[in-house]
Amino acid sequence: VNDIYRRGMLDNETTDFPVSYEDLRNAAHAAMSDEGRAYVHGGAGSDETFERNQDFSPWRIVPRMLRGVESRDLSTEIAGVDFDVPIALTPLGVQSLLHEAAEIGTAKGAAEMDVPLVLSSLSTEPMEDVAEALGDTPKMFQFYWSSDDAIAKSFLDRAEAAGYDAIVVTVDAPILGWRERLIERGYYPFLEGEGVGNYFSDPEFRAQLEQPPEEDPSAAVEHFLDIFGDSSLTWEDLQFVHDNTDLPVLIKGVLDPRDARKAIQHGADGVGVSTHGGRQVDGSISAIEALPAVAEEVDGEVPITFDSGVRRASDAFKAIGLGADAVLLGRPYAYSLAVDGADGVETYLRNFVAEFDLTMGLSGCRNVDEITGDTLRHESELH
Ligand code: FNR
Repeated sequence: VNDIYRRGMLDNETTDFPVSYEDLRNAAHAAMSDEGRAYVHGGAGSDETFERNQDFSPWRIVPRMLRGVESRDLSTEIAGVDFDVPIALTPLGVQSLLHEAAEIGTAKGAAEMDVPLVLSSLSTEPMEDVAEALGDTPKMFQFYWSSDDAIAKSFLDRAEAAGYDAIVVTVDAPILGWRERLIERGYYPFLEGEGVGNYFSDPEFRAQLEQPPEEDPSAAVEHFLDIFGDSSLTWEDLQFVHDNTDLPVLIKGVLDPRDARKAIQHGADGVGVSTHGGRQVDGSISAIEALPAVAEEVDGEVPITFDSGVRRASDAFKAIGLGADAVLLGRPYAYSLAVDGADGVETYLRNFVAEFDLTMGLSGCRNVDEITGDTLRHESELH
């Protein structure tokens, strides 16, 4: 933080890059195509959950003073993977819609700050190229089941071979949510063949086509739509993932503590509380509202990741106080990429980490373990 203020005060260095989330979102909305805007902004239905996700205000931080916070340790560990900061980038598909640098730009920005990235199955860029751009930065691969086992297995094999540290299985999107902005436009990125680069580069996927995707893209997209998603899945099917990878397996998309228990019973190495950014079940509980009960059920047996609605470092601090071990950023980095490619992602993360470090220090916490429920009060307890 000192460096950031110093650069402004002593070196007269200012940045054009928006500092507040609202300015960033507005700048990105101006920079993006109509389709890009509709794709990122869109929650499901009336946006009720999308909006509520962003309300962390019922929880208040109660800072403690004079606790010797000169050196602060932001590191944490998630399922055997070391994080320098308790922050990572959540999987967002089809980033070519945001900026031409797409997932490679995101990976480069994340690598500059050594912030872990969870790469979407729906990456425009092949997962191997993204892994290379990330270098030594921790990386996880988000797994969407295909109804075709051979393709699903091929994805798991590729992720392991490319050096990903864990598999993140998203369980809240076996069917796409009701996304009105996209339906109104009769548009989904897959239909254009965007966002399926990771599939088009898959040897098993290619082997199932009569012609390579380069020669007949519409047939390739059609095949993708045939095999994408599987609403018949049950918790028992998680065994398929364990059988086909030696990597830790984290679950993303749990809101009910009973599902957290199911995940653990079926061998999950981590549980992710998420509403998919309010893009799936409109009217659902928000992620931050769901977190305390899930944390109580999990009770430290496995790490908890959290996403949906995090915009500022105080949001992340509150989620960690309520039981998360790491917090994933979504739309803010999508907007950063849209505004300024890899540099945008790097700048946003530099600001976010600085703000997080500052919030920790000013609240009297020297390390992430000291961010507990004891640092928070719910508004219902204030009177
Ligand atoms: C997503 N999300 C998502 N999740 C996932 O597991 N695989 C994916 O491919 C995608 N793709 C995706 C695209 C876009 C444009 C958005 C906004 C979201 C959900 C994502 O990982 C995360 O749960 C939400 O983004 C969190 O909400 P906020 O904080 O971004 O509002």
